[in-house]
This record gives sequence, C-alpha cells and structure tokens, in this order.
Amino acid sequence: MTKPVILTGVRANNDLHVGNYFGAILPIIDMARRRSAEYTVNLFIPDLHSFTTPIDHSQLFDSIMNNARVYTAAGLPLDDDAIQLYRQSYVPAHSELTIILNNFVGFGEMERMTQFKDRSRSNDRVSVGLFDYPVLMASDILLYNARYVPVGDDQTQHLEITRDIAERMNHKFGELFTVPEPVAKQHQFFGKDQGLRIKDLQNPAKKMSKSDETGKGVIFLNDTPAAARKKIMSAATDSLGRVHYDKEAQPGISNLLEILTLVRQANGRAVSLQQTIGEFTGLERYGEFKKIVADEMSEFLASFQARLAQVDDDTILRKLESSEITANQTANQTLLRVQKAIGLRR
Ligand code: TYM
Repeated sequence: MTKPVILTGVRANNDLHVGNYFGAILPIIDMARRRSAEYTVNLFIPDLHSFTTPIDHSQLFDSIMNNARVYTAAGLPLDDDAIQLYRQSYVPAHSELTIILNNFVGFGEMERMTQFKDRSRSNDRVSVGLFDYPVLMASDILLYNARYVPVGDDQTQHLEITRDIAERMNHKFGELFTVPEPVAKQHQFFGKDQGLRIKDLQNPAKKMSKSDETGKGVIFLNDTPAAARKKIMSAATDSLGRVHYDKEAQPGISNLLEILTLVRQANGRAVSLQQTIGEFTGLERYGEFKKIVADEMSEFLASFQARLAQVDDDTILRKLESSEITANQTANQTLLRVQKAIGLRR
C-alpha cells in the first residue's frame, strides 16, 4: 500500500528570517523526522513562486540552494528516502498542470484571494504570475496526491481553493486527484506543529515577513548576532511598562515572549511559553527583558550559522537530484491521467 503524502514548501526569495524558521521550517523538519516512517514527506522549494515579489535574479540560484542548506542545518536527515527534497522548476509537470487547470478556474475566484488583494494594493505593477499563483500552488499539491499540507494561516485560503479545484475536476472527469484534507483536519493532524506566528518587531500587528522593505522589524537567519541584538533592543513595545502576555494590549511584548521561548528551546532549554510568561510577568524594565531576548537570539544565531557553515553542498545536490527523479515520475503519472481525461492524450 502506498503511504499517504505530506507536502509543503517555503519560497526562496531574499533571505529567510526567524519567522520562517520558527514558524514553518523547524516545525516542518521536526514533523518530517517524526512522520517519515508512516508517510511520504515531500519538502519542495517552490522556486517558480519566487517571482511573485520583487527579487534580485542574480541571487536566486543561491537562495534556492540556501533554502536546502537551511533545512539541513535545521536537522533534515538527507539520508532518509521517505523524505523527498526537490526544486519545483526541475519538475516541468508543475507548469504544465497549471496551464491546464487555469482553464477550470474562474477569474472571480482568483480575484477574491486575500493575499492577491493585499499584495496588489501595495505593488504598482501587478503581474499575471501573482494573480495565478494559487493555481500553481494547487498543481504543486495535486500532482503528488498530497493529503496533508502544513502551512501557516496566510496560506489556508490557497489550500481551500486547491480543494475546490480538485473536487471540481473529479466531478467533471472522474477520480483524478486526491483531495487534501480540509483545513480543520489539517490543524488536528499537525497540532502544535503548525508553529507560532512570529510578528514584525517594529509593527507587531503584522507577521514578520520577507516582503518588509526596511528589514528593521525582521531578523534574518544571516544577520550578525550584533545586528539582531540591535533590532531586538529597538523593538516596538508599549507604554504600560510591565511585562504581561496580552496579544491585544501588549502585542510587542507578547511577541518577544514567544520569540524568547522559541530561541530558548532552540538553544536546548526545555521551556514552554507558559513557563517563560511565568518567569517574566510583572518585570518593569523593558530594557532588561529585551537584553535577555537579545542574548538568547545571539546565542541561537551564532550556533545556527556555525551549523550552516558545516553543511556540505555536494550531499545536498545529490539529494535534490535523486528526489527530482522520483518527483518527476510521480508528477508525470498524475499529469498523464489529467491529459487523458481532458482529451490531450489517448
Ligand atoms: P511562504 O514561502 O510565504 O511561507 C512558507 C511558510 O511559512 C509560513 N510563514 C510563517 N509562519 C509563521 N510566522 C511567520 N512570520 C511566517 N511567515 C511565513 C507560511 O504560512 C508558509 O506555510 N505559497 C507558499 C509556498 C508554497 C506552498 C505550495 C506551500 C507554494 N506551493 C504548496 C505548501 C504547498 C508561500 O508563499 O509560503
């Protein structure tokens, strides 16, 4: 019997930040290690999705490799054959299926995507690629018959549209696709693995995001410990002057308490968010609190960057190339099924 498939990806543009790392990458790698005996785990780098935000094209190839290096430094076992690691653009079926599915998706449906609406408001030039991005994401998922797709809240609408597209195609053409589980079931399945949503240090009302232009509220994984310290020391707080975990009234302090918990855990101290909250609630000197967060962050970055420097590119390339052979086989089977169903092949 074939094992059920878990699939997820993290885009490779600009630099990865601690929001991606603690909110997505680390929980994904931990999940992959724990589940690979019973599931096939597809971790892929959605490199064709990179162009939906402005990027430096001369850096792209290296950012893609860097994603794979970061996964490895975060603990991805490259020798586990149940975990596949591949680049989207090395599997042409992703693009091919997108072109096909585009014809079965309505303009109005795509226009309603909140991420499209948000991004098109802040961009002068709105590309067709940005508009069509959720269909490419649906192809990424449907080609591999994925049942479970761990993503953050910002991606759940795209997961819903993937389910809609799969159901629509199955209804019209017979059983073509595995329909991924509904979002509520995904949450049940992944539980805590979904990760915390780290907020921007300067504007804790919004998530820490690589689309932020100034970079002041974002700690990148390649920031020097000194640069990260500076960002934490100048993080926005509030005028209440007393540490308390309250996401509504004290979003900046609450964000720092969450970040502190995550970096302490990464530094090998088994503390829960509740314990961290208990330890610092009532402290009246924000500077002292921030210094503790900055110390832990510096320790984390120094040791993470040392691990990253040890990662061997040849081993990663071998893993990518062997996974891409397997990924092409699976994806081409699905693509052929679709091509036959819609009349392109006999
Ligand atoms: P992307 O690359 O923007 O983000 C990758 C994952 O990281 C989560 N995330 C965060 N989680 C917590 N705190 C944050 N500050 C934070 N920032 C980002 C996102 O929710 C996401 O889960 N479209 C996807 C990539 C993709 C994909 C797919 C994912 C393309 N095809 C197929 C799954 C399946 C994206 O842009 O994620």
